[in-house]
Amino acid sequence: MILDFGDGFFLRQATAADRAALAMICLKTGDAGKDATDREDDPDLLGLVYTIPYQVFEPDLAFVVDGPTGVSGYLLGAADTNSFNARLATDWYPELQASVTDPGPDSTRWQGSDWARHRIHHPDLSVRQALVAYPSHGHIDLLPQARGKGIGRQAMAFLEQRLAASGSTGLCLEVMRRNIDALNFYRAVGFEVLQDVQPPKDCVYVAKRLASAQDVAG
Ligand SMILES: CC(C)(COP(=O)(O)OP(=O)(O)OC[C@H]1O[C@@H](n2cnc3c(N)ncnc32)[C@H](O)[C@@H]1OP(=O)(O)O)[C@@H](O)C(=O)NCCC(=O)NCCS
Repeated sequence: MILDFGDGFFLRQATAADRAALAMICLKTGDAGKDATDREDDPDLLGLVYTIPYQVFEPDLAFVVDGPTGVSGYLLGAADTNSFNARLATDWYPELQASVTDPGPDSTRWQGSDWARHRIHHPDLSVRQALVAYPSHGHIDLLPQARGKGIGRQAMAFLEQRLAASGSTGLCLEVMRRNIDALNFYRAVGFEVLQDVQPPKDCVYVAKRLASAQDVAG
């Protein structure tokens, strides 16, 4: 156990054995924080894009919230987004692309999980110079039974502290514009919406500067 949240919930390191749970939670929070199960025709793709690569390539920053009913959330980080994306480009997407059919560019013809299939074949792994002050990124998703108990606040503080200790100067996250609950959460825990950085479609960036270990020592 890394953090005890009370009520039987706790944070622990994610392992390879948690990959199915990471994918399940990603699906159940995949529609701007709500359950995307009915929308998707392949329940595994969201997890293969948004969660499992973190456990594979950043295992030291991959955590699950475990609890009375089993794994109820995750907290994932990438210390250096550019290096992480470079790794995805060479070691993750080529194999995944070989097992998934590209639905083509015409989004009006996409159905079910085609948007995810398209994303797998055309991932946006570009270097964003405007985010240079925030080299790290992360994801947090909790199932309903774990929400509203202060777990999100404590988990984010923990991730920030881990990243700062490793020398990161800033953390940013992509949030769906219509996920108002999450935007309120990020504001409550000290993140600001970046106004002058072009975010991916339908999203905003929320970001926070971190006091790196060097700053603290100095
Ligand atoms: C968003 C999420 C991570 C927040 O975690 P949480 O454990 O529910 O939040 P906490 O209980 O730690 O709340 C922390 C603060 O955020 C505020 N907050 C949380 N959810 C809020 C909401 N829906 N509206 C307004 N404020 C909210 C709380 O009031 C609290 O403020 P306080 O400490 O000053 O009282 C969690 O609810 C979740 O996983 N939701 C569904 C998935 C999702 O949307 N993930 C984010 C994708 S980008």
